[in-house]
Amino acid sequence: MLTSKRAKFTLPPQLTYLNCAYMSPLLKSVEKVGVSAVRKKRNPVNITQQDFFTETELLRIEYAKLINAPDPKRIVIIPSVSYGMANVVRNLDIKKGQHVIVATEQFPSNVYPWQRLCEEAGAQVITIAPPDDYTNRGKHWNEKILESINVNTKAVAIGHVHWADGTRFDLEAIRKRTNEVGALLIIDGTQSVGAMPFDLQRIQPDALICAGYKWLLGPYSIGLAYYGPNFDNGKPVEENWINRLNSEDFAGLVNYQNQYQPGALRYEVGEHSNFILVPMLLKAIQQLNNWGAERIQEYCRHTGQPVLQKLAEKGFIIEDELWRSSHLFGIRLPGNVNLDDVKKSLLKNKVYVSFRGNAIRVAPNVYNTQQDFDKLYKALTKVL
Ligand SMILES: Cc1ncc(COP(=O)(O)O)c(C=O)c1O
Repeated sequence: MLTSKRAKFTLPPQLTYLNCAYMSPLLKSVEKVGVSAVRKKRNPVNITQQDFFTETELLRIEYAKLINAPDPKRIVIIPSVSYGMANVVRNLDIKKGQHVIVATEQFPSNVYPWQRLCEEAGAQVITIAPPDDYTNRGKHWNEKILESINVNTKAVAIGHVHWADGTRFDLEAIRKRTNEVGALLIIDGTQSVGAMPFDLQRIQPDALICAGYKWLLGPYSIGLAYYGPNFDNGKPVEENWINRLNSEDFAGLVNYQNQYQPGALRYEVGEHSNFILVPMLLKAIQQLNNWGAERIQEYCRHTGQPVLQKLAEKGFIIEDELWRSSHLFGIRLPGNVNLDDVKKSLLKNKVYVSFRGNAIRVAPNVYNTQQDFDKLYKALTKVL
């Protein structure tokens, strides 16, 4: 079992930060790498032609390890989830009468691209809502999603967990069903990859898009996308020189090239060599691989479970463990409790969480302890 890693971060001691789903705090090691990366440009001769390629390659390899991807060249750097999704929708030949399936209240960067694509093609976005009843909600929501997939489904675009309340989606079952009808599976891994195991070889998504500043513990404005063989001959949203074959040869760049670099590298964002953000994200993912996503998930479970049990006994509504993650989950209030009072109580006690939909979103990580959960418990139960 992991022990608390709080000493590796610089969170103020009086703060109970249970909000990694909003943004992770910075690891001291990542901050150090970032500062020295900023300084490197003081003297441009410090940045060699090779540097345009080396660290991104290392980042691909490190991330491939995290998600168990066999080919790092299928992994590219993106600035945001919306960018990663833009490459997907640009290459999806959807027809009138077909549809894309999403879950209710999914994060907008995984909804707007589908809305526009479907609007332009005369296709439809079908949104699958959870059942109203909180008993077995996650299980029944998953069943509804599986039932909605049919021969007219072009793609299912979903997270591994729901960003607002951590409901877990059974990606293996969804993959099986999408394969039966020839639909694509597009995953937004932003709220899960890093803190929860993701096995690309088991799930075999067509694309996995992930922002870097939450559970990957990276800086803002850099993320990673995996694109599978279905996208091998597609068109990227931009045409950057570095994604073309032989771009390593700077002297020959105006010998314009029709061919792209191998794998999915055509989809990489321009200036992907980002000499500050790339080494920072690399350092963060090295740390994650060292801890292991399984152990992070287990740590969060072990740290939070006793308090969640007590809250459930007091009438707070929390999804069954089987159908939610341990690093991100929603707590819904008993009927008689006023949400504004809860917000005030949490703020007064310096307990930082988010409010998404009708759920209090709690998102612990390896720097949280059982004492943090005790503070959450006190702040929540004060208003009963
Ligand atoms: C599930 C999910 N996807 C994506 C994002 C961020 O999207 P983008 O990188 O397009 O800003 C967030 C941010 O909260 C998120 O929760």
